[in-house]
Amino acid sequence: MDTEGIRQVAEKLKSSTRVVVLTGAGISQESGVPTFRGADGLWQNFRAEDLATPEAFEKDPVLVWRWYDWRRSLIQPLKPNPGHYALADLEKRIEDFTLVTQNVDGLHKAAGSKHPIEMHGSLWRVRCMQCGTDFENREVPIDIPPRCETCGGLLRPAVVWFGEALDQEILREIYRCLERAETMLVVGTSGAVQPAASFGLVAKKAGAFVVEVNRSKTPQSAFFDVSIQGKAGELLPHLVEHMTQ
Ligand code: APR
Repeated sequence: MDTEGIRQVAEKLKSSTRVVVLTGAGISQESGVPTFRGADGLWQNFRAEDLATPEAFEKDPVLVWRWYDWRRSLIQPLKPNPGHYALADLEKRIEDFTLVTQNVDGLHKAAGSKHPIEMHGSLWRVRCMQCGTDFENREVPIDIPPRCETCGGLLRPAVVWFGEALDQEILREIYRCLERAETMLVVGTSGAVQPAASFGLVAKKAGAFVVEVNRSKTPQSAFFDVSIQGKAGELLPHLVEHMTQ
């Protein structure tokens, strides 16, 4: 473990009042949630364009719902890991703390993070294609295809698919936080999907000290101030622990 790197980052965090953390699938890997890329990533076995696009849903909502129902059933019994808990703990120690996640698994909330910005939506929310109502739904298995109780319209997973725009208000809030951040952690993301892939660089350009925590090097590692290689579930608790020393 890179103890020197951890100590340096812990010192930075200790003296920061404004911190942003971006997480990706890597933080949930130790909970048993499959990542998207890499040897056992979901996109090795499934084609994103068949399952995670508005066109795929229009063509075959039953197929898309079967895939989401499978993911929901896989994730429902899983628990947050020490990495999620460490970030919930970090939130309590920093005056102005923002957690942005690309994950749709809900594990940050389960770990006690107060207001994670779930920028790609949530597996546990659905939206009516007809009346637009967006609400929580935790049924596993879900009746396929699910229908809106209010208007009978077809429900879709309330997640952001490839080719869809992110909520502009959420994006504005994220950029506001990135511009003000003193320190940023980029945890468990391959940096393959925009706009999240550029958040670390935006914060760095605005003057933040940016730290990557990832099991492997990424194409962005060289651009950050520090890149620590290892498991998020081991490194993040160490980081928070060092802040108290
Ligand atoms: N600890 C730290 N990092 C890890 C761990 C771990 N235990 N396990 C894996 N990683 C790292 C991998 O090295 C990789 O860089 O997590 C990253 C996971 O990358 P992706 O699978 O590409 O996930 P992510 O970056 O979140 O993907 C972005 O792509 O398909 C979409 O919408 C989906 O939100 C997702 C987006």
